[in-house]
This record gives sequence, structure tokens and C-alpha cells, in this order.
Amino acid sequence: LPAPDVTALTGADVADLLPRPATESDKYRRGVVGIAAGSDLYTGAAVLAVGGALRAGAGMVRHVGQHAPVAQVRSHWPEAVVTELERPSIDGVGRVQAWVLGPGLGTGAWAHEVAASVLASDVPVLVDADALTLVSRDRSLLRRTAPVLVTPHAGELSRLIGAGRAEIEAGRLEHARAAAAELGVTVLLKGSTTVVAEADRPVRVNATGTSWLATGGTGDVLAGVSGALLAQGLDCYDAASCAAHLHGLAGRIAADGAPLNAADVAAAIPEAIRRVHDEG
Ligand code: APR
Ligand code: MG
Repeated sequence: LPAPDVTALTGADVADLLPRPATESDKYRRGVVGIAAGSDLYTGAAVLAVGGALRAGAGMVRHVGQHAPVAQVRSHWPEAVVTELERPSIDGVGRVQAWVLGPGLGTGAWAHEVAASVLASDVPVLVDADALTLVSRDRSLLRRTAPVLVTPHAGELSRLIGAGRAEIEAGRLEHARAAAAELGVTVLLKGSTTVVAEADRPVRVNATGTSWLATGGTGDVLAGVSGALLAQGLDCYDAASCAAHLHGLAGRIAADGAPLNAADVAAAIPEAIRRVHDEG
């Protein structure tokens, strides 16, 4: 695979890209993000993704899912608007400007129908975690005209493009770029450094993170942060790279040389945003 051009975002770049509410703004103009996440078996991922989206400045966060995750999200986040899905469809869930699809969603028939319904919308969709498994099995889910951002770790990317995991680890930039071109999507490849790739643009590499982030649930927070930036109007490439920068910085703030948990990372996102504005 050809070696792509590589670039990195500075804090000042991120400060320029991040939206700030205008005087006349309202919650709808600040971006409504929909989160289709969680299942009766896995409820925590939805709580973490909603938390990431709330902390990243969305005007409104809507969560849709099965009974148990909706109940969990409702009790953790009174700010979120929740809808328990009676059928596996988002029809009637109004005004969402970008969707986050997949954390804890499950990979059965119900989850597949939810994924198909979300991907049939005409707004940007972030595909993570279980939804990556679903689209690996059924690529036709990705046939849509609105933008798609996929956020795999190396194992998830390996299933998505059918390359070996070791092969991907040996050429992360090249494989992220090739996957973006092949699937017609933006790719955010997670790991100790995070790579953001799109077919005809330089690959952006982010190293603001810390290995303390290697703990369950931090990926769900990243999905929520990225979704909030998509809903605020950033394109996939900028939303992904700003989210990776802020999430890494929030990890450093939360860890400060000691273990963190995923909820701490979400809680540190506002401080990360404050720092890029102060320093940028
Ligand atoms: N250094 C810096 N950052 C790291 C490192 C590291 N060594 N390792 C991981 N990270 C970051 C990644 O870049 C990413 O932002 O931590 C986050 C981990 O995200 P995921 O890999 O999606 O992990 P997560 O979803 O939170 O938890 C694991 O994912 O695949 C499923 O079944 C798996 O339930 C499990 C879950
Ligand atoms: Mg994950």
C-alpha cells in the first residue's frame, strides 16, 4: 500500500475548528445528536456514549434503545431525551442531526434492524463497536449517500476489511487510508496513537492520549464526543480528529499518572476544551 501524506492537528487547529455557541443560538442550532446504543444485555456503553456527547457540547442528546439501557441512561443523565424503541426503528425520532450507532447494541436481528434504520437516515452516522460487526457481515448497510465515520480498533478494522490484525498493526496509516477508500467512509483507527483517514486527504495522526486510556468503555466515550461534533456541523474528518485530540487530552487530565475510568474521561472533556481554547 502507498505511504500516505501525514499531518497532525495542533491544539490551535482544534480551537479554530470547535464550534462556539452564537449569542442567538438555541439547543437545536447547537446540534442534536442521536445515540442508538445499548441493549438489555449491555447497558453501560450507552451511558458512556451519552456522557461523552453531553460533555462535548451538543445542544441535545437523544438516546434510543431497549428498555434496560434507556432506564440506565434516564437515571444517569436527566439531560438526555430517551426513547424506548417498541420496534427496531428510529422512525419518528425527530430532529437528529447526526447519529452514533453501535456501542453495546448487540449483533442479533434486532440490532441489525436498528442499524439499517439509522443508516437509512439522511444525516451523518458514526459506526462503532457492535455496529462495526454488523456492517462487516452486511456491507450493504453502508450503501447510503450521507457521510459515514467508522471508529474501529485494529481488531474491528481487521474484520471490516478482511486483513490480518498483525498486518494492520504493521501499517496502520496505510490500512486506515485503504479502508476509507474501499468503503467510501472516514476511518478513525484507535490504538496508542489514533489515525484519521479519508481517501483524498492527508492522514491525521493524534498522540495526545495516554496508555491509561486502555480500559473498557473509553471507546464509547470517544464515540459520543465525535457524534456531538458531527451534530454541530463538523465534517467526519474534522469531527474525528478534534474528538481524538480532546479525548486524548481528557485522558491525560483524568489520569494524571494514575488509573482512570471511562466516566472520568467524559467528565474531563470540558476541561480539555477549555485548555485548547486557552492555549490555542
Ligand atoms: N495508548 C493511548 N490510547 C489508547 C491505548 C494506548 N495504549 N489503548 C487504547 N487507547 C484508546 C484508544 O485509542 C481508544 O480511544 O482507548 C480507547 C479504547 O477504545 P476501544 O478499543 O473501542 O475500547 P472500548 O470500546 O472502550 O472497550 C473495549 O470494545 O471491542 C470491544 O469487546 C470489546 O467490550 C470491549 C470494548
Ligand atoms: Mg469499542
